[in-house]
Amino acid sequence: MNQETLSAQLADLSLGWVQYLPKVGSTNDFAAHWIDAGAPDMSVVVANEQTAGRGRMRRRWFTRPDGALAFSVVLKCDLHGNDIDSNWLIRFTALGAVAVCSTLQREYHLPAKIKWPNDVLINKRKVAGILAEAKWKGEKLLAIILGIGINIASDSLPEAEELDYPAGALEEFSHQSIERLPLLKFILKDIIRWRAFLMDDSFIKTWERNLAFINEWVRVHQEDGDKGTVGYEGVILGLNADGSLRVGLRNGIVEDIYLGDVHIRV
Ligand code: BTN
Repeated sequence: MNQETLSAQLADLSLGWVQYLPKVGSTNDFAAHWIDAGAPDMSVVVANEQTAGRGRMRRRWFTRPDGALAFSVVLKCDLHGNDIDSNWLIRFTALGAVAVCSTLQREYHLPAKIKWPNDVLINKRKVAGILAEAKWKGEKLLAIILGIGINIASDSLPEAEELDYPAGALEEFSHQSIERLPLLKFILKDIIRWRAFLMDDSFIKTWERNLAFINEWVRVHQEDGDKGTVGYEGVILGLNADGSLRVGLRNGIVEDIYLGDVHIRV
């Protein structure tokens, strides 16, 4: 991939600025500076390598050269009033997860699932992660930066001790080589498509239909402000209308999880 092939391949999509970087700290950080410089809606930055890639919950994200797809999309949005509920950013994270998951299912016939809220799994191994960040100027929301990282080649995976969850690479499951440019284009098309429905119940239903571990016992860690991390064991029941996760506990109580991670029960 280079700037020329990237621009040519994406020319028929309605995008803003399109940038290829051989190496960058983090495409999300690059996109944040870009927004200050006036990057329009749907600007896309792709990196061959990230040296300071970031994940959710202050984790690191590794992008080795050539074997992975790492990119960020600038989404300018006019969110007002009722749209900005306490849990709105999670919809953007889910937008990335739904776009990656549906692309892998439809175009590559891979059994992708979403580990709530936003990790994409194949056979219980994490193949993609999504980091949505809001960029503010004072009280005004300037844009959402939707960062997506996908492990494609098996040698793109970090060492096991660097991982918070067992990782996998697409090519381990597809048994064929996967080109980054067509994969990127499919995902961008799905982001454009699903974005129009982001605030609708139909979007939450699609996200829910693709959830991993439905009706299975899991351990969930909720980040709970002052209380720190609170752990629950229960069965995943589905999603509420605001995208929070419904977990049925052993004592019959249903706990709604707003910020956290799902672990397979051990
Ligand atoms: C996670 O699994 O916690 C989210 C990982 C998100 C990684 C992507 S790679 C492109 C973009 N740039 C970053 O620094 N992070 C995201």
